[in-house]
Amino acid sequence: MVNEYLSVVVRLIVLEGVYDPSDDSYLLLEAVKDEKKLKVLDMGCGTGIIAINLAKQGCKVTAVDVNEKAIENTKVNAEINGVDIEVFKSDLFSNVEGCFELITFNPPYLPTEGEDIAWDGGRGGIEVIRKFLKDAHKHSEENGEIYVVMSSLSNTKKIFDEFGKIYRFDKVLSKRFFFEEISVYRLTTFKNAKGNKQRNEV
Ligand SMILES: C[S@@+](CC[C@H](N)C(=O)[O-])C[C@H]1O[C@@H](n2cnc3c(N)ncnc32)[C@H](O)[C@@H]1O
Repeated sequence: MVNEYLSVVVRLIVLEGVYDPSDDSYLLLEAVKDEKKLKVLDMGCGTGIIAINLAKQGCKVTAVDVNEKAIENTKVNAEINGVDIEVFKSDLFSNVEGCFELITFNPPYLPTEGEDIAWDGGRGGIEVIRKFLKDAHKHSEENGEIYVVMSSLSNTKKIFDEFGKIYRFDKVLSKRFFFEEISVYRLTTFKNAKGNKQRNEV
């Protein structure tokens, strides 16, 4: 596959059992296309599409996924594209140490149960996102940013209600597809959100 969304061209192969980059992946890529020279964590890396593009943009990238095949896939694609990325298996932050200036996550967000871990967000489509948000702020550098994809099919209101005291949520990109609207949110923790108004605009 050739990704022509960015100034840097990335060639990706997709192994069986790994999420084939889709509209949500491209929207997240678009949201981070100007991020450079940052220490980045790409959560749920899949094929490595986000991680590899960020590495090409000059970021120092760590990529993790709970799916072993995704780890293998990201390593292969990093090699094809000549970028050096730290890649390892982790169930969310279970094996992640330290803090990052940028954290990206295109999570499973569909309100399904018992389906593929790539898109199965559990009840309300928010179970993985909720677990992620419980720990993400502990791994975010001061003034760090966290970019998360969510869908109009997910119960985003519950997320804003539950985490509105920890994070400021700003919708930075949104696109309507035939059965849902996919949005990218930029999250900053209130302790870090210097200069930001202390309220949520969603
Ligand atoms: C929608 S796919 C996105 C893949 C890739 N980042 C992209 O944008 O194309 C979600 C990814 O999250 C991974 N994932 C699901 N649950 C996870 C967890 N608990 N910890 C880490 N990764 C997880 C899946 O294996 C899958 O690769």
